Amino acid sequence: MRGKFISLEGGEGSGKTTAIHFIRQWLDDHNIPYIMTREPGGTPLAEEIRQLILSPREEVVNDTTELLLVFAARAQHLAEKIQPALDKGTWVISDRFLDSSYVYQGKARGGDIAMLDQLASWVVGDNKPNATLVLDVSVELGQERVVQRQHQDRLDKESLAFHQKVRDGFLERAKADPERVKIVDASQSLESVKIQIEKELSQLHKTWVGDC
Ligand code: TMP
Repeated sequence: MRGKFISLEGGEGSGKTTAIHFIRQWLDDHNIPYIMTREPGGTPLAEEIRQLILSPREEVVNDTTELLLVFAARAQHLAEKIQPALDKGTWVISDRFLDSSYVYQGKARGGDIAMLDQLASWVVGDNKPNATLVLDVSVELGQERVVQRQHQDRLDKESLAFHQKVRDGFLERAKADPERVKIVDASQSLESVKIQIEKELSQLHKTWVGDC
């Protein structure tokens, strides 16, 4: 049976690293074969493209350039890592995927959604995530966490208004597709975040096992 594909999304400082740790624990406890990966990135070439996208630089990065780089990295990631794993029945957990493009390049940068739809259908096709967990925190709390980091990338340094659009964008995507996109309240204690994630994973697992 084809593996399941879960993406993890959220704004800067939403606690994805901790959430990944909880997801790993749950998958290990349930003996589910999986790979963890991330976007932009996930393969050597896609990681090089990630550096191009995220490195702070003096030259203004054109919005279309950013959009195409994100999808170039995704094409490589899908072909070399995600599809082969899913075909083997391995689950794929990706720290960010297509929803980030709709939210960052679409909502926050004001990109053309019809163009995003075309790129999504060309590059991603049917390889959309079966489920997506969005870690939701206020922009203020997210920024408090980000400023404590030693290295801030080009997108971390965007304005508060940009990050507010990112948060709104993820909430809108969850509202538009509640079957697939689940919100986790990441402003709560770590224990509460762990419980929310385990609950979502258990429900998905039950649905999917029932699907067989
Ligand atoms: P992160 O892995 O620390 O979250 O950093 C990845 C950054 O890349 C984050 O700011 C969101 C951004 N990004 C996009 O702008 N578009 C995309 O499609 C993806 C996957 C990420």
